[in-house]
Amino acid sequence: MKALVFEGPGRTSWRDAPDPEVKDAADAIVRGDTVTICGTDLHIIKGDVPEVTPGRILGHEAVGEVMEVGAEVRTVRPGDRVLISCISPCGRCRFCRGNRYGQCQGGGGWVLGHLIDGTQAEYVRVPFADLSLHPLTSAVDGADAVLLADILPTAYEVGVVNGQVKPGDTVVIVGAGPIGLATVATARLCTPERIIAVDLAESRLTAARAMGADATVLSTEDPERLVADLTDGLGADVAIEAVGLPETFDLCTRMVRPGGRVANIGVHGKPATLHLEDLWIKDVTITTGLVDTFSTPLLLRMTAAGKIPLTSLVTHRFELDQMEEAYDVFSRAADTGAMKVVLGGTPHDTVLPAN
Ligand SMILES: NC(=O)c1ccc[n+]([C@@H]2O[C@H](COP(=O)([O-])OP(=O)(O)OC[C@H]3O[C@@H](n4cnc5c(N)ncnc54)[C@H](O)[C@@H]3O)[C@@H](O)[C@H]2O)c1
Ligand SMILES: [Zn+2]
Ligand SMILES: [Zn+2]
Repeated sequence: MKALVFEGPGRTSWRDAPDPEVKDAADAIVRGDTVTICGTDLHIIKGDVPEVTPGRILGHEAVGEVMEVGAEVRTVRPGDRVLISCISPCGRCRFCRGNRYGQCQGGGGWVLGHLIDGTQAEYVRVPFADLSLHPLTSAVDGADAVLLADILPTAYEVGVVNGQVKPGDTVVIVGAGPIGLATVATARLCTPERIIAVDLAESRLTAARAMGADATVLSTEDPERLVADLTDGLGADVAIEAVGLPETFDLCTRMVRPGGRVANIGVHGKPATLHLEDLWIKDVTITTGLVDTFSTPLLLRMTAAGKIPLTSLVTHRFELDQMEEAYDVFSRAADTGAMKVVLGGTPHDTVLPAN
């Protein structure tokens, strides 16, 4: 088969690789029909994730067809169309038993395209298939479903659920990339009074409005002031960080109201300063998290019911064997306007950004 192989920092190739085989009775082999690329893959290629060693097939998001299953697999059969989750839960350890699949201690968790070969290939071996695969109905398009492998549950669980978004809340989301936009879409499920999106780039704010943000502001244009003006000087009920920089985390802690919640989604590479000299008296709750994907079945039902607008997140489509071109477009998002690029599935025409 062909696969996108990490060859060491700065280098990948789309090349021949051995077909995967069932190794464990809980495995399934899936043929990838619709695949996408994550910002995390770009971090891996840069060399930021040292556990990923040369020779590893990348990717942790896909939709495909089950080809073969191990003897213990019960919930899927060959021929089923499935979503492959970015997290593979063992289902048995202390964390999995508490729905905290991301922290799995039983050999699962985030393993695909990280510790074992991933989804950017014609075929992939998926461990713990009963919990890692979600059967799909024909009501869900492959390009929508593939967004539920990682970004939708991440936005919902680490942003909206951890931030405890409630009806009537003012929610400010800093960062309007794929994760920030998915946070706008899933926060709306909780009927906040208003959602304010903050970004550096005007094009991303346009996308945020298309996704349902009520107000948008450039980070250079005093977002703190806008939030204060819209909330009688109080601040936002919930501030969600979807960038991963010290300054955007700090901005969230300055925009939240007394008693409010700051939910951090961003992956941080540098330490941030926590201003406890201001925050200690404000009753603020700060949460962090890695996605667990416990919410994927719920989000799939809501997507099938047309309750989550997803289409504007996919800006470019390619054939599977155009993997290197797709990486090029995705990695130059500022020039290309790329949000999510989807490979395979139908139709295959390149489409322009939603704005
Ligand atoms: N916690 C988890 O489980 C998890 C899972 C997936 C992704 N993530 C992280 O979520 C974050 C967002 O992911 P993404 O794919 O949307 O990333 P992205 O890089 O595509 O988007 C980030 C957005 O932030 C904006 N931005 C940059 N600097 C800014 C600033 N100073 N002020 C305001 N906006 C600014 C950019 O213009 C961009 O639109 C990343 O850090 C990613 O690693 C976390
Ligand atoms: Zn990802
Ligand atoms: Zn586990």
